[in-house]
Formats: sequence, C-alpha cells, structure tokens
Amino acid sequence: MNKHKFALTTPLYYVNDVPHIGSAYTTMVADVVARWQRLQGQEVLLITGTDEHGQKIQRTAEELGVPPQEHCDRIAASFAGLWEKLNIQYDRFSRTTAPRHEAIVKEFFQRVWDRGDIYLDRQKGWYCVACEEFKEKRELIDQTYCQLHPNKQVEWRDEENYFFRLSKYQQDLEQLYQERPDFIQPESRRNEVLNFVKQGLQDFSISRLNLNWGFPVPTNPKHTIYVWFDALLGYVTALLEPDSEPTLENALSQWWPINLHLIGKDILRFHAVYWPAMLISAGIELPGQVFGHGFLTKDGQKMGKSLGNTLDPVELVNKYGADAVRYYFLKEIEFGRDGDFNETRFVGVLNADLANDLGNLLNRTLGMAKKYCQSKVPELTASEISSDNILQKIGNDLGEIVAKEYNSLRFSQACEEILKLVRLSNKYIDEQAPWRLYKQGNQAEVEQILYAVLESVRLAAYLLSPIIPNLSTDIYQQLGLGIDFNNQTLLQHQAPFNHHGKWGILPASQALEQAQPIFTKLELPDEEY
Ligand code: MSP
Repeated sequence: MNKHKFALTTPLYYVNDVPHIGSAYTTMVADVVARWQRLQGQEVLLITGTDEHGQKIQRTAEELGVPPQEHCDRIAASFAGLWEKLNIQYDRFSRTTAPRHEAIVKEFFQRVWDRGDIYLDRQKGWYCVACEEFKEKRELIDQTYCQLHPNKQVEWRDEENYFFRLSKYQQDLEQLYQERPDFIQPESRRNEVLNFVKQGLQDFSISRLNLNWGFPVPTNPKHTIYVWFDALLGYVTALLEPDSEPTLENALSQWWPINLHLIGKDILRFHAVYWPAMLISAGIELPGQVFGHGFLTKDGQKMGKSLGNTLDPVELVNKYGADAVRYYFLKEIEFGRDGDFNETRFVGVLNADLANDLGNLLNRTLGMAKKYCQSKVPELTASEISSDNILQKIGNDLGEIVAKEYNSLRFSQACEEILKLVRLSNKYIDEQAPWRLYKQGNQAEVEQILYAVLESVRLAAYLLSPIIPNLSTDIYQQLGLGIDFNNQTLLQHQAPFNHHGKWGILPASQALEQAQPIFTKLELPDEEY
C-alpha cells in the first residue's frame, strides 16, 4: 500500500430514490476522513457515486413512467447536489451506467471466467428486490417478507443463472481474516462475518435472465450481470484518470489498493466476503479495510417511509447548515454503533458545544485581547509560557491523542478530547480572572493567560476542522490566520498537521480581528415548547 496515498469509498448509492440520511451519514464520515488524511499530508482520493442498474431501479423507473437512464440522471444529480450542500469534497463520482464502467466490468468478468470460476446452473430461491439479494427461508418473516424490508414480499425465482465459485475461496477468506484482523472493523462486524463464513460458503449467482437494465454477460448476452457484481467494480472504475482508456490495468495503476471502504452494516457480506473473493479470483490485491457502521434511528424508531418518520437530509442542512449537521452525526453517534437522531438533542448538543463552549471562548478571549492587548496576540512565544500552565500541558499532547482517535475512526472521542481543552480553557479564564490581574497592573500575567487561551482555541479549531471546516475557517480568520479549511490545494502547505497540530504556534503580536459570533444559538423546534 502506498504510504503517501489514501483512497477511500462510500457505498455507491442506489438511485431508486433521493438520498436519505443513511447515505448522507456515510458520506459525511468519508469526507471527514478524507480531510483528516489531507491534513496529514496524504494525497487523497475520495470516491462516492451511484449504483444504477438492476431490477429495483428498472421497476422504479417503470412505475414513474420515465426511461431508466433519465431517472438515474435525475437522482444522481440530487446526490451530487446534497454533497455540495454538506460541503463534501469528493474526488470521483462513479456512476455504474457510465460506458467506461462497462469496459471494466467486462474485462473483470472475463478474468474470473478464464480462472474457471464462473459456471451455469439453476437458481431457485426467494429474492428480495429491495436488497437485490436471494434470501434463505430462515431469514424471512412469515416466510414472505425480508427482515430488512418487512413491507416488501420476496419473489420466487427459478431460472438459469451464471454462478461465481465463492465456495472455492472459503480457505483464502478465512486466512485473510486471520492474518489481517483489521480487514473488517469494528470487531462486532468482524465476528458476524467470521460466523457467517464458518457455516460454509455457497456459490452465488451473478447473472439474471429477463432483466435488461444492466450489462450483458460477455459470453452470453441473454443474461444480464447481477447488480452487485457490477456495482462493486464501480470502485475500480472510479480510479481511472478521466482521460485514460478504461482497462483494469489503468484503473489499478495509481490508487489501488483502496485503503478504506466505508459501508453500513447491511451490506457487510458483499464487501467483506463476496468482494475479496472476487478480487482473489481475478488476481487482484485486496483493499485495506472494510468498516461497517451502524444504523440510524429517529426518536428511537427505525426510519421508513411507511412509518412516516424519515429524516430528509436536505431539509436538515437547509435548516441548520452543513457544519451543524456534520458535527451532530460525528460527535453524537459513536461510529460503528447504531445511533439516534432527535431534534431536541441536536439543538442541545450544538448549543452546548459550538455556541457556548467553543463560540463563547473565542468571543470572550478576543474581547479581552482587545481591552488588554490592543487586539494583538501577546508578545510571547510558547517557550515563554510557564511550564506548569495547564492549557499548555494538555495542549502539548492533544494533537497526538486526537490523531490516534481520527486514525481509528473514533470521531466522537476525538471531539470529546478537543472539547475537553475548550471547556478547560473557559474554566481557566474564570479561575484566573485576567480582568482582576489587569486592574492590579499585572500585565505580564494577563498576557500569559491570553496567549494560552488564544492558542488553545486555535488548536481546537484546527483539530475540529475535518468536521466543521466552515467554523474552523471563521475562527482562524478572527485569530488573524487567513487559512481556508475548504481550500485543499493550499491547505496542505499552509497548515500541515506537523505544525498546526501542535500547541504553541500562534505568532507573537499578530493582529486579531473583531470578535464575531461564529455559531448562533439554535432554537428548539416549535413542538418542543
Ligand atoms: N447500492 C448498494 C451499495 C453498493 S456499493 C458497491 C446500496 N445502496 S443503498 O443506497 O441502499 O445503501 C447505501 C448505504 O446506506 C448503505 O451503506 C446502508 O447501510 C446505508 N443505510 C441505509 N439506511 C440506513 C440507516 N437508517 N442508517 C445508516 N445507514 C443506512 O446498498
């Protein structure tokens, strides 16, 4: 794996409907990881996109009375629109209906075929169109409904399909999980996969008859390639440079192996079992890690159209702004576990952390710097700060601590660590009461205090910047540091982690700006009054 490159993916989202909060969640997380890696000096490729083939999409388009491609174009655009609103800086948007993707799928199919891993047989079983997956009888509710889609009946299928010899890779996979315990994370998901594989792997069908919305099987065009076989390869197609010829060799030449696949727990089997087996068969190196996150609920209940309690990400971001939404999901939900959205809690968390703790800290400190230091950073360097200064002590280790948390995708803990410094800074001001020291003519001590606090706000803003890039930019601006955390090309040179991630870099005597509230307190939704 290339040490200076980091490629990561979100799932390629189905275009049966406009984006929901689940897709927004993974994509926000992916963007945070990408931004974090860029701060570390890595060259990053963030891949997202849409999964546009298969029966589910074909039916949706039919029901709407629009040609499938037109339907896909419309929905793919709504995904791209939401990513822009959420300030997602993706590098590639992979669409599985792209002509260059067909070339990659064909070539890959051929490789697996040449390996002798594809054969024709009869497929009989219950199919869930919403999952695009065959289900075992024991997985069904009342023998008719899929557990993940309890309002959709499974359908009986009995047809000739091409099969992939998954069973042949049982040992390879077991060896993979053992040799690379990090391949599937978190641990609970890893165990789930281990248990599933232990039961014995069965070959799975990779073609469909009587379905035309997909790529034809190269060796027999009466068949269409199964949507999952096609979709997983969308990650590979995304790696192609925009103007390079669509061959596997080109696609794999620069960014493969992908470091991290971020997915939800419902599609774990495809990514942690089928995908590595397909790659081994095609003689391709395996990706770094598959991380299966939890599911979101609303007010403690499963979200769904039939329940009428969906959470529209577009509405949410229009109402509260990108940083607020990003912060809530990253801070309040432990990544990997199921999590809940509740608007009262949402408002409470943002007001407490961003408006009160962080916003007030900046505001009051800039106010004091104006009164006591002519709106300048005190004429000090970190080495002149007393060695028992508590903020300096905590600040010195914070970058490394937070780096560990980000690197292990523990975003909630990263936020907590940063907020600790923020809260401590507020407490420190209260205790030190620089206004009293100023009155007593103790200017040197006032300057020590203000420097320590200003620097702590700066460090907190820097370390939170992958999550709240707009707010961090505003804070930096007010501290007189004209750095734009959304400008990726400049950022790596202007504010690398190995400099800005350390406590004590605020330049002495730097001019500060007028304090402006960075985050206006949110109101509770009406019905809560
Ligand atoms: N098209 C496939 C992925 C192919 S990847 C090569 C797919 N698409 S999806 O649109 O149905 O799901 C996308 C993601 O949304 C999945 O990771 C799924 O786990 C996630 N979520 C769907 N509902 C969710 C919640 N309620 N909460 C969190 N994530 C959820 O599957």
